[in-house]
Amino acid sequence: MYKMSLMPLFTAEAIQEMVQLLGEKIARNYKFDTIVGVLTGSFVFVSDLCRHFPNKDIKVSFIRASSYGDSTESSGQLKVSLLDELDLKGKKVLLIDDILDTGRTLQKLVDLLKEKGADEVRSCVLLEKRARREVDYKADFVGFSIEDGFVVGYGLDCAGEYRTMPDIWTLESEN
Ligand code: IMP
Ligand code: MG
Repeated sequence: MYKMSLMPLFTAEAIQEMVQLLGEKIARNYKFDTIVGVLTGSFVFVSDLCRHFPNKDIKVSFIRASSYGDSTESSGQLKVSLLDELDLKGKKVLLIDDILDTGRTLQKLVDLLKEKGADEVRSCVLLEKRARREVDYKADFVGFSIEDGFVVGYGLDCAGEYRTMPDIWTLESEN
């Protein structure tokens, strides 16, 4: 069993400030036409971040990727769906996920989006865990950087729970 940390790791206010900074930085540095969000974890982040991009012609779509099942450890097997519906030929994509952990998910997704004809793919995550990278992959735009630990809230889940909480919390093992 897990319990939540006593205090949020990042409050809703701190998250909104970071999302605004990130949005402004991305808008200054990357001219893209398509957002691809990674369900389910990024749904809150995408909806907040996308409102910092002023162009009216940016398209938003989502793919689904899952590797966790019901635990806090990745199974290592990535299941990707909703990819077939995307038309990415010649597009400049901003790929958005909630968190970069081992790096396997985003590394694989960037390859898949390029295989579908995307001209350029840059990635953005709200959080990265520094201690856990297993592949040589760096996100182009990163909000918070944490050492390690399992975090929930603001879209991030544990076995499907905690996603709707506005702050981000650390989940600790009870024994
Ligand atoms: P990676 O492939 O190991 O980089 O894992 C990235 C994916 O695992 C993210 O899209 C998240 O859905 C999930 N994930 C990794 N760490 C956490 C966490 O601390 N809390 C919730 N989900 C996580
Ligand atoms: Mg995910």
